[in-house]
Amino acid sequence: MVQTHKFLDIPNHEVIGTAVYDYVVNHTDILQTPVFWNWVNHDDLLAHVPELRAWTQEQNLTVIRIAIIYIEYPADDLTHVDDDQHIRVLWPIKNCEHSYTVFYHIPKQYWTKVCDQHDGAYHYAVKENSPKKELAHIELVQPVVFNPALPHNVVLSKPLDGPRLSMTIGFDEQDPRSKSISNW
Ligand SMILES: [Fe+2]
Repeated sequence: MVQTHKFLDIPNHEVIGTAVYDYVVNHTDILQTPVFWNWVNHDDLLAHVPELRAWTQEQNLTVIRIAIIYIEYPADDLTHVDDDQHIRVLWPIKNCEHSYTVFYHIPKQYWTKVCDQHDGAYHYAVKENSPKKELAHIELVQPVVFNPALPHNVVLSKPLDGPRLSMTIGFDEQDPRSKSISNW
């Protein structure tokens, strides 16, 4: 059975999420020019959120990339596969309750590689009406490690108080934890 995700117990994750939101508001233009995928300068973010840096240091993790994912209600079908297929952390930042990250099995012949014109990020889009089988779904109410090599979608089931923001963190690709969820 393919491993889709694993929740992480980080007692101060809400404090960190609030501090990251503060960084987004005061040090980026993500809320002014919203696109789905927003790279941020990870060194700068970690300098502004020392609790997050402390967590990565405790875990002996070398952060190599951080992005903020922005989604508004109502959202189209966002089913995709990430170009970067290393195991990553996903962290709730704002308005993540009552929405679901869903993982599917979809055969590879239904994937096509595309480059988003707005953010320059590559991903694999999945053909409409391709056969899909749900593997798992999670409500992002605490940090999780997940496998972005599996087709996944974010489903917003009802209007939110504002944009849904989550943070994804990638690590040294040679770290065994970048290769398999079972190493977490
Ligand atoms: Fe993704």
